[in-house]
Amino acid sequence: MNAILQKCQGLTSKCVNFIQDFFVQIRAVHVDHLERKWINIALLCVGLLVAIITVDAFFHGINPPSKVETIDSAKLHLSKEFAESNLGVQVDEKGVVTVRMVAGRYSFFPKHISVPAETRLTFRWVSIDVLHGVHIPMTNMSTMIVPGYVAEITTSFPKPGEYPVLCNEYCGLGHNHMWSNISVIAKEDWHDPVNLTANKESNNE
Ligand code: CUA
Repeated sequence: MNAILQKCQGLTSKCVNFIQDFFVQIRAVHVDHLERKWINIALLCVGLLVAIITVDAFFHGINPPSKVETIDSAKLHLSKEFAESNLGVQVDEKGVVTVRMVAGRYSFFPKHISVPAETRLTFRWVSIDVLHGVHIPMTNMSTMIVPGYVAEITTSFPKPGEYPVLCNEYCGLGHNHMWSNISVIAKEDWHDPVNLTANKESNNE
């Protein structure tokens, strides 16, 4: 036990010495006044960027996808979750609204859906062929739909109306015709779609 402790102490003092030496040597290097200024500016920029990322991550909740789900894009029609009968709006017994949509050249399927306004909606997107994007103006909905992955975004629509769903990644000659629309209906006028049995289990690998 004592031998290990002594070894650890030796290692620590070696590290400390190395760091001290490193800084002594760095200080001994002649750095031009102007160069020093630019080094400081560069360090300031790095610090600023790190600060922005930290504030966004902790206070604005902007994060890279934490739950990376993969799916076989060639077998979407065979998957339980993205089978044709399961697409569109579903409400589970707790009242959570989930929207499942498939992007393919050159449309989003289902082509048209109705959702309630001022309600938390979880969108789950998959691509059937190539890389697509989805953008819904006036919401935070903007993501890539990468083949082989499930893109999940939670959003809500502030006001009733018609919202366009646009593809924002170049996906081929029909890219600029790739759009759909969503009807947002006042919360009190909106009715659950007939298909109330949300399929919670997913068979994504
Ligand atoms: Cu799909 Cu551009």
